[in-house]
Amino acid sequence: MKPTEYSIESLLDRHGHAPDRLVQILREIQAQRLWLSRQTLSEVAHGLQLPLAHVEGVAGFYRFFHDRPVGQYRVLMSDNITDRMQGSEEMLRHLRHLLKVEPDTMRADGRVSVSTTSCTGMCDQGPAALINHNHLVTRLTPARVEHMAALIERQVPPGQWPADWSRVDDQIRLANVQLGVQPEPGVGIAAAMARGAQGMLDELKRSKLRGRGGAGYATGTKWQLCRNAKSDTHYVVCNADEGEPGTFKDRVLLTSYADTIFEGMTIAAFIVGAQQGLVYLRGEYRYLLEPLEALLQRRRTQGLLGNSIQGRAGFDFDIDIHVGAGAYVCGEESALIESLEGKRGTPRIRPPFPVERGYLNQPTTVNNVETFCAVTHIAVHTGSWWLGIGTPHSTGTKIHSVSGDCERPGLYEYPFGTRIGRILEDCGARDTQAVQVGGPSGVCLSAMEFNRRIGFEDVHTAGAFMVFDRSRDMFDVAHNFAQFFAHESCGFCTPCRVGTELVVRRMDKLKRGFGSSEDVQILYELDKLMHGATHCGLGATACNPLRDTIAKFRPAYEKHMKSLHFAPGFDMDAELSQSRLATGRDDNGAHLETLA
Ligand SMILES: Cc1cc2nc3c(=O)[nH]c(=O)nc-3n(C[C@H](O)[C@H](O)[C@H](O)COP(=O)(O)O)c2cc1C
Ligand code: SF4
Repeated sequence: MKPTEYSIESLLDRHGHAPDRLVQILREIQAQRLWLSRQTLSEVAHGLQLPLAHVEGVAGFYRFFHDRPVGQYRVLMSDNITDRMQGSEEMLRHLRHLLKVEPDTMRADGRVSVSTTSCTGMCDQGPAALINHNHLVTRLTPARVEHMAALIERQVPPGQWPADWSRVDDQIRLANVQLGVQPEPGVGIAAAMARGAQGMLDELKRSKLRGRGGAGYATGTKWQLCRNAKSDTHYVVCNADEGEPGTFKDRVLLTSYADTIFEGMTIAAFIVGAQQGLVYLRGEYRYLLEPLEALLQRRRTQGLLGNSIQGRAGFDFDIDIHVGAGAYVCGEESALIESLEGKRGTPRIRPPFPVERGYLNQPTTVNNVETFCAVTHIAVHTGSWWLGIGTPHSTGTKIHSVSGDCERPGLYEYPFGTRIGRILEDCGARDTQAVQVGGPSGVCLSAMEFNRRIGFEDVHTAGAFMVFDRSRDMFDVAHNFAQFFAHESCGFCTPCRVGTELVVRRMDKLKRGFGSSEDVQILYELDKLMHGATHCGLGATACNPLRDTIAKFRPAYEKHMKSLHFAPGFDMDAELSQSRLATGRDDNGAHLETLA
């Protein structure tokens, strides 16, 4: 079950004793030793000539690193709302009962620990669990959970569990240009080289392609800025962190369309003048590492990576893969860069933006997986072809990860401008109450809004499309999202660290039936406060689901306000006056600190 034993020294040698490899080094050591003891961290600190406090700080930041002993089997049950809708909470309780293990603790015999993780990216085939940070079990059922507990008790390695359990299907339900026929490897690069770097950049600008990672920044402009930035060294980074609950399109692209992604990265390198590319692969997709590395190797032998790509002297570019360690905030581009440099994934203060000073302080373009795929298609088919698809302000197609209450969850690719109602019809959704578009940080739409359209002009999305029928309690949905943000806040700035926690406490109180309309008012005020006071987008969007559901599904909250009785010892007035403090605003949010 454990990988081959090696000494820390030999591992550090393999990573060239480079401090920016720290996250990868810790990941590999933990895969062998199960957890990272102080002694281990000291050896690493010594070997990399880093302060121990720095190494401990990094080990303590990422959720997939353990600085205390954990079970030989580490089970992480996916805790997204779509997993819960399929019974994951009950299955988790059952698993813990069968294995006689308490939440978040190691069983006394050291055999097993069972916890939760925010979302494994398997929303179309959940509930899912991640075993030992490497093996996925999809489509969990109570019977599968019982069988899994028995295998753990018999110490059967996860690699020998039924193969069907770890089957991950692409589930492409509707393909348009990006999920359809792929260009042959090398054709996009050849087309870009024929145009020349500035010519290809102009083609990209003509296409009006906007980034698919969420912010929708114009790709051509971003690459022009990176190209113009003065330095001998530029980097291209593919953001494959895909941590937004409800999103799994990048997983499918990485599984079956990776040639197109790597081709797009190589075209980016040609334009901005980079010699090194990095893919930041989320820890939950660790199982894709070997196939992706094999593909990179194949592209090297095909002359599509390495020196003198396609025979062009001086066009040298290669790609390395960095595996994350369980931190949603690392999807934010500057936090991602910090993580690539082997540090805690704390978002940077910007400006300077990554295109000027990114990875190792050099000009860097960070783009989403889908953006790189789109670039390859544009290189092959031209910018005006892409411009002709979609709407004037939102060109091309968008891939949606559809999950929740529908008959056919999976990937659906549509030109921008497609109606929400059309997607619901296609995926077999019935009696739909709400759709969460763009994940918890996106927008919650009620049935009145199903005529709205996907696009930067209207419903903006990075790709998640979660469907809730009328049997669902929208308060529970918002509660799950609030827990997600509190869990994932990196803790760097007070308004987000404390604010997300206060939101959860208010929601918990409402859930227990102790809430009142004032609690709802306070939630609104927390939203206002956090929106303008946080350091990065995570905190700024953390209250979006709350605001939307309070405004559009008020009865779901009122249901929880009905019983205005109080638990013994519960002081409602004190609770409320404390919360009122939180509504005053100052620049550093220090008032919130007092409520922590
Ligand atoms: C909290 C947070 C998480 C993010 N997660 C992702 C992610 O998983 N993938 C992604 O491409 N962009 C993510 N982003 C957006 C990135 O910061 C960045 O805008 C994007 O990678 C740029 O790529 P694009 O120009 O191709 O859209 C996230 C942003 C925030 C604030
Ligand atoms: S807003 Fe939240 S996630 Fe972002 S830096 Fe502040 S604490 Fe970290």
